[in-house]
Amino acid sequence: MPIHPRALALGFLGTHFYNYQLILKEMKYSFDIIGSREKAVAVIKMNYEGNPEEIAEEIMRRHKNVKSVLLEESPREGDTRLRKLRLVKGSEDTEVVHIEYGIRIKLDPRFVYFSPREGEERQRIASKVRPGEEVLVMFAGVGPYALAVAKRQPEAHVIGVEINEVAYKYFLENIRINKMEGRVEAVLGDVRDVCPRFFGMFDRVIMPLPLHAYHFLDIAIKCLKNLGGELHFYYWGGEDAFEKAEILVREEAEKLGFSSTVLERRRVSSYSPRTWKVRVDFKLERKQH
Ligand SMILES: C[S@@+](CC[C@H](N)C(=O)[O-])C[C@H]1O[C@@H](n2cnc3c(N)ncnc32)[C@H](O)[C@@H]1O
Repeated sequence: MPIHPRALALGFLGTHFYNYQLILKEMKYSFDIIGSREKAVAVIKMNYEGNPEEIAEEIMRRHKNVKSVLLEESPREGDTRLRKLRLVKGSEDTEVVHIEYGIRIKLDPRFVYFSPREGEERQRIASKVRPGEEVLVMFAGVGPYALAVAKRQPEAHVIGVEINEVAYKYFLENIRINKMEGRVEAVLGDVRDVCPRFFGMFDRVIMPLPLHAYHFLDIAIKCLKNLGGELHFYYWGGEDAFEKAEILVREEAEKLGFSSTVLERRRVSSYSPRTWKVRVDFKLERKQH
């Protein structure tokens, strides 16, 4: 199949980035590659145009490390944020080890949430952590935030909480294969049930669940140390997403006796032309009476 000049202009050939937009003569699609140079899985995004089998063939021809191609067949659903993924071509064995900034992340995209597009964002968060901090990662998945923090700040101690048992098991294995036992701990369960045992323990809480994190703000704030700490709050919305995120956090903080100051606002990624995943970082301090 001939490659359209736009595809060449986009640097499709020979690029090593993990997400691509490929525009061919009569086809338009984008896909993620998850995995390593030895074995990877490609996931064709839902907005594709064309024949999935032909697209899969083209991807496997150009990326010899891709052993399976999956097709998104639904939006993300439920607590586990999983999609229906159909195997279009290649091996049924879709377990891979993704390499991100030197961290090995083992997972099977059919059973756990993982986005290779968020690696840079994880590094941004990890770079904020100071030596000696206690860090809580709510909604930890297979552990990419927790591992990124521990790799970048070896003197931090990180706890990650995850509700999906398959993701939790990969998280445990990822701690082991990255030799981070003792520095990173995985906990299985719903943050609402599990986190009360951590109240008052953390310098920093990370909340990477954009659609629903606000339901858990009370728990997150109570997990911060008594005098306060920093909160990374992810939210999903339109032009007013920052404003709404700030109101949600400020009101919950006030209720619990904390003042809140915004440290950073960032648009992390876009879902559609007018909808973004945003992050707002806060410093929360206990109010003195
Ligand atoms: C958007 S994914 C992010 C996963 C991971 N932080 C990452 O970046 O790959 C959200 C994760 O939160 C988990 N989750 C959703 N609700 C939860 C809850 N109430 N308690 C614990 N984990 C939850 C899901 O299973 C999913 O793995």
